[in-house]
Amino acid sequence: MFRLGLIGNPVSHSKSPDIHHELLQEHNLKGHYQLIQTEDRDLGNNIEWMKEEGFTGFNVTVPYKEKVIEYLDYLEGSARVMGSVNTVKINQGKLIGYNTDGGGYVKSLLTLSPNFLEDAEAKSILLLGAGGAAKGIAHQLLQSPFKQMDVANRNIERAQSLDHQLGLSNILTLNEAMKELGQYDLVINTTSVGMTPYDGEQVIPLDYVKPGTIVSDIVYKPKWTSFLIDAKKRNCQLLFGESMLYYQAVKAFEIWTNPEYNLNQL
Ligand code: ATR
Repeated sequence: MFRLGLIGNPVSHSKSPDIHHELLQEHNLKGHYQLIQTEDRDLGNNIEWMKEEGFTGFNVTVPYKEKVIEYLDYLEGSARVMGSVNTVKINQGKLIGYNTDGGGYVKSLLTLSPNFLEDAEAKSILLLGAGGAAKGIAHQLLQSPFKQMDVANRNIERAQSLDHQLGLSNILTLNEAMKELGQYDLVINTTSVGMTPYDGEQVIPLDYVKPGTIVSDIVYKPKWTSFLIDAKKRNCQLLFGESMLYYQAVKAFEIWTNPEYNLNQL
């Protein structure tokens, strides 16, 4: 019996229970995923309660992705790099923190383009945005030896700081990136531009993008952002934000149900 949950505030609109109940059913596993609305002062107590109740693990959402770290015993690589945790596994009474955003992104990319990582040396990637989402995605993609990974951000200092942490190729302004679009195989919007209620906005226009380029948006509400509508008009391949959302949940599910992620494997 897998007892799973989500701590955060608010949690009532989360799609996670539906996704995880479906995954449990698909894998013929018994379990339950519950929403645990948590006030700041109750964070420690709620974590202790889940431990006592024998939870297998839980997800963490806003505003606790950083704060939860002080309650954990171990941090896996990408959670450490990002300084942010969205998945916790409880194993032998110890809490292990993971961040599945980057791993989920790469899984979603591979559903669209299964061989994308295979000739990484020949491929160039452009990240639009330099916040937490960009860091998780870049860190995971950099496990493969891409020819080039560039970052463009409105605030250049933030792009420089991402470069210092991860080692990227070039730092561009958004305006420069717009003109250089023709040289990339994958263009990822990691900014929040275009998210409801700012539906009509687009981080940069895609006039110079090559047909066939994979254009990806991490915004999932709305599904069809202006960025992706523009990409479709230019005959690009589209990777939707909802795919990343789904696969970061799949990755968390794997962590909870696969012994490969237990303490003795760390
Ligand atoms: P997350 O953790 O979800 O990535 P974040 O750290 O707040 O969120 O990062 C948001 C990203 O969206 C940043 O790259 C931000 O650019 P700045 O660093 O210049 O602020 C980008 N962003 C948000 N609104 C934007 C806008 N209107 N135009 C361009 N970029 C924007």
